[in-house]
Amino acid sequence: MGARAAELTVEEKAALCLGADIWRTAPVERLGIGSVVLADGPHGLRKPAEGGVGIGGSVPATCFPTASALGSSWDPELVERVGAALGAEAAAQGVGVLLGPGINIKRSPLCGRNFEYFSEDPLISGVLGAAMVRGVQSRGVGACVKHYAANNQETDRLRVSADVDERTLREIYLAGFERVVREAGPWTVMCAYNAVNGVLASQNRWLLSEVLRDEWGFDGLVMSDWGAVADRVAALAAGLDLEMPPNLGVSDAALVAAVRSGELAEAELDTAAGRVLALGDRVGAGAPAEPVDADAHHALARRVAAQCAVLLRNDGALLPLDVPAGGAVAVVGEFARTPRYQGAGSSQVNPTRVDVPLDELRRALPDEVDVRFAAGFTIEPDVAADEQLAAEAERVAADADVVVAFLGLPASAESEGFDRTHIDLPANQTALLARLAAANPRVVVVLSNGSVVRTSDWERHAAAVLECWLSGQAAGGAIADVLVGAAEPGGRLAETVPLRLADTPSHLNFPGELGHVRYGEGVFVGYRGFDAADRPVAYPFGHGLSYTSFGYADLEVAVTGSADDGDLAVDVAVAVTNTGARPGTEVVQLYVGDPHAAVARPVRELRGFAKVALEPGQTRAVRFRLGARDLSYWSTAAGRWVLEGGRFDLAVGASSRDLRLTTSVEVPAEPVRPPLGSGATLDEWLADPDGAERLRAAVGVDRRGRPRGILASAELSRMLGNFPLARLATFPGLGITPDVLRAIGP
Ligand code: BGC
Repeated sequence: MGARAAELTVEEKAALCLGADIWRTAPVERLGIGSVVLADGPHGLRKPAEGGVGIGGSVPATCFPTASALGSSWDPELVERVGAALGAEAAAQGVGVLLGPGINIKRSPLCGRNFEYFSEDPLISGVLGAAMVRGVQSRGVGACVKHYAANNQETDRLRVSADVDERTLREIYLAGFERVVREAGPWTVMCAYNAVNGVLASQNRWLLSEVLRDEWGFDGLVMSDWGAVADRVAALAAGLDLEMPPNLGVSDAALVAAVRSGELAEAELDTAAGRVLALGDRVGAGAPAEPVDADAHHALARRVAAQCAVLLRNDGALLPLDVPAGGAVAVVGEFARTPRYQGAGSSQVNPTRVDVPLDELRRALPDEVDVRFAAGFTIEPDVAADEQLAAEAERVAADADVVVAFLGLPASAESEGFDRTHIDLPANQTALLARLAAANPRVVVVLSNGSVVRTSDWERHAAAVLECWLSGQAAGGAIADVLVGAAEPGGRLAETVPLRLADTPSHLNFPGELGHVRYGEGVFVGYRGFDAADRPVAYPFGHGLSYTSFGYADLEVAVTGSADDGDLAVDVAVAVTNTGARPGTEVVQLYVGDPHAAVARPVRELRGFAKVALEPGQTRAVRFRLGARDLSYWSTAAGRWVLEGGRFDLAVGASSRDLRLTTSVEVPAEPVRPPLGSGATLDEWLADPDGAERLRAAVGVDRRGRPRGILASAELSRMLGNFPLARLATFPGLGITPDVLRAIGP
């Protein structure tokens, strides 16, 4: 901890490893060392107003689209711009660390906090998380990547153990964190509440020190989630530098006592306290904050929200709206007047202002178009009121040229702190929709929800469906822009929309019981599971329509370097053309599959994506470069990433189920062979050319020069090939004698 170490007492160092209060690190006034202020959150600053307590009443801040929406942008540049705006707002409020982004994987659509997370896929979570971190930190404010790790549900979140095999952890649940740490250098990481394989994340040395620091090179500070520390001394020894909020008088005393008794080496305390001081230095080195232009940030939030909106279907090109002069639009749904644009819990922002979709739509449509509103339903269903509202909405719909129905989840349906138990829209809304469709078939549904909702039970009543997620305070303006075609729907699904909840791969293992949740689906999360089981879905991962159309051609792949030399590069190029009449952006997706592998692998995994803007008729070459890691799996046996040489299938397309061009490449690599000994099987010995030779030599030949025992019989070798040699030695006549075992070594 540098020169300052010597100046601090054990008590002062212990105090540094706890906050001073719920939002500040501890100062050391004697040495002129100040506090760092921490504040939520992922999509907007939640800095409590002076004297404020609880979730509400924070200082006004721009509420940007939540991660559920940002994930659908597939656009790291855009997310970086949001991050920079968040950083600027934090800096202007004297906040040194912003508690976001949250990059946990959406393992189940039921997770109450899915609106705070980007995707079911770690590449999207990692790329967008890194972009957010770069943006925030470009303003001299530290980001805090959370919640590390395997915090994929709210049920029993402070106690539950996520029981996950290491390969699944590495490939799915840690991969996003790894990318953010390696690529963006976050100043802080927040540990999760839950345990991972029986050890609380806050006390998990493997996670906090071995993987995070030793392997990935993290050089920042690890803080606890709020209230995640059970044993301060064990947590510090595992690598947890800062406890938040501080258990004052208890945790600090425990640290001092542990150092005095020798239970904790003072050097470990020095390291943790040093990291708190280093964070202060990083925050202090930032340029002076500049005033925030709230209007500019609102305008950014609006542009971004349009880029996150996913057009799920658009029968008969009903969108963008084309209403004749003198025509009428029926706007139905309480959400058009009372928008839902963010989720509940620690991320809840006090917005600088809120766009109302109904007003924005009126503004966006020509004056000659009559916009008529009917609430249609109550957000928190009220049976008596709903009947009357639905009847009135039906009348308004019948007389209109087109109906725009704003449906979605009530705030009470999803929040931090609890999980959902179903994924259905409220029945009063789906019943209303059926009546609207009977009155007027030209119905556009606009959805506001943080986590996926089932569409299969109602979408026959909708000609067009626009999924807007919880898209921040400017969502209303953005929705109007997309509906009238002033902006395009730029989003693509970062998570699968299932036909039924029961189809989702984690279904039978969510949310666990008796303190454990078993990640039984392994790496087959989201589309990886749907595709492996070839199960139909409502809308696949990656899906989203545009107002124009795109053609894919000329897929080319070139392999250079070699996996064994560590310089393998697989270069992929594809030409994408805007084949329609409007400008538009396409999200070009590259999937890779390893059809013959020693472990069960997904049919395809997203390994690259690019969002490209194209004018009508314009063509652009889109290029991707894959490395060995993109083709590898985590081998639990070898304790490292393993690339198995052979054929790999590559596909580019517009969703995991809309693959436009496919090809295969051969990638050579030295085979991974298990260590040979008497515990290795006959098959394993014979599969290894050197091993086969050694074994044959040890077994020897008979008088006529033929191999002895089992090696003479193809039939027996096949039948007993999975026997370890030591077990074969127990059978007489097979030629695997004690002498042979001695000759081949242990
Ligand atoms: C949440 C974190 C949040 C923290 C501070 C916790 O309950 O899990 O995401 O940053 O509170 O509000």
